[in-house]
Amino acid sequence: MANVKFYAGESFPLEMHKVRIIQKLNLIPIEERQKCMEAAGNNTFLLKNRDVFMDMLTDSGVNAMSDRQLASMMAADDSYAGSETFTRLEKMVKKFFGVEYFLPAHQGRACENIISQVFVKKGSVVPMNYHFTTSKAHITLNGGTVEEIIVDEGFKIKSDCPFKGDIDIDKLKDVINKWGAENVAFVRVEAGTNLIGGQPGSLQNLSEISSICRLHKIPLVYDASLLADNLYFIMKREKACAGMSTHEIILKIAALSDVIYFSARKLGFGRGGGICTNNSEYFYRMREMVPLYEGFLTYGGMSVREMEAIAIGLEETLDEDMISQGPIFIEHMVKELDRKGIPVITPAGGLGCHVDAKAFLDHVPQSQYPAGALAAAFYIASGVRGMERGTLSEQRDENGVEPMAHVELLRLAVPRRVFTLSQINYAVDRLAWLYENRRLVGGLKFVEEPKILRFFFGRLAPLSDWQTKLVEKFRKDFGDSL
Ligand SMILES: Cc1ncc(COP(=O)(O)O)c(C=O)c1O
Repeated sequence: MANVKFYAGESFPLEMHKVRIIQKLNLIPIEERQKCMEAAGNNTFLLKNRDVFMDMLTDSGVNAMSDRQLASMMAADDSYAGSETFTRLEKMVKKFFGVEYFLPAHQGRACENIISQVFVKKGSVVPMNYHFTTSKAHITLNGGTVEEIIVDEGFKIKSDCPFKGDIDIDKLKDVINKWGAENVAFVRVEAGTNLIGGQPGSLQNLSEISSICRLHKIPLVYDASLLADNLYFIMKREKACAGMSTHEIILKIAALSDVIYFSARKLGFGRGGGICTNNSEYFYRMREMVPLYEGFLTYGGMSVREMEAIAIGLEETLDEDMISQGPIFIEHMVKELDRKGIPVITPAGGLGCHVDAKAFLDHVPQSQYPAGALAAAFYIASGVRGMERGTLSEQRDENGVEPMAHVELLRLAVPRRVFTLSQINYAVDRLAWLYENRRLVGGLKFVEEPKILRFFFGRLAPLSDWQTKLVEKFRKDFGDSL
């Protein structure tokens, strides 16, 4: 957002865009919200969007598109092979990252499937700052092991560390020594580390990781799905990068990496994804997988309209006004919650605001899924749909043992340019009420537990009648308010 100073002293987020198309929202009464939560098996993924007031589940594929993106969709070229649309996207991606080769895929996890199949062997290891659910699933499906080597500060809820998503360089050296460089399939660095609160990594750290990888001939794979937020934090928090343009930073990141992949549901504000590299050997090995899993090489499972929108979305990612909107709204939300004593991850990261469910519901043991319980309680209290990012999002090991997550978070995603400041303030208000009444909230148990990625469609039930008590207290405090 532009550098605007306020006469009244305290500043507030100022949108550098205007709303030209709107979508009506519904806020149903709390009694109905309780029934909807029950019907959804206490899993916010299973709620129907018509029953949701603010959808803060994710930023994936739900960021607002610009007028230029929508207009570009009309000019899409439908041909199966050799489409002009693909040529435009390919040209833009190559310019954006400064790379030679680009492979299209239908979304981020499809890129992870291809990369894992090409690089991961049974018995190999993939060190990374922190896993993302689908990246870990693909690596383990291919017989690999994930080693998380994020800096210790990454797990601290309250911190003033500007780059909590950095890799601990000593831990990286230890993993390489322990496994042997030949068994390290690749090192994965995730921009805007999703599962620990959208926390960024620094350019300096990436440069150190890259030197180590090059020394040991280990490929460095950069997950650029959350690059837009990470770019903004590098510009604002990394002194050595002050004055650099967004594009200069992107080109540096790309030059330090061997393979870059992204979910275009996040980067580029469309639906799709892609893999880039300058390494011809990697390119040809990965290319074989595209027609097998994704579609022909000039669409990779994406619709031509989305490809046009992504090309413009990438171009717009170079604009600081655009990439700053999410982080500045999130910072506002985090500050307001922090001021009210509600435990949230600090410093504010990208992607969304992350509430520390372990501290919020310190009476609910981890085995009763405090982050899942908080997500259910918050929907009932507000009609706002957030996402559990804690033990429910973990997967049982081969012996059926359930690992307890490092952190239990309720993620309230802030899709870019979607919500107004008053809607964000409403979410803060209802969360403050819930915090006052947190002792009413109890735990959850599984009634249906899928084996893989159980958080997507698993069903749970409350361990007592706590949800009814919460509804009664809401009515007492708010009268007939929605
Ligand atoms: C960091 C990161 N990597 C990969 C993915 C997977 O992308 P997709 O949802 O497009 O499959 C996501 C999705 O949220 C993500 O946040």
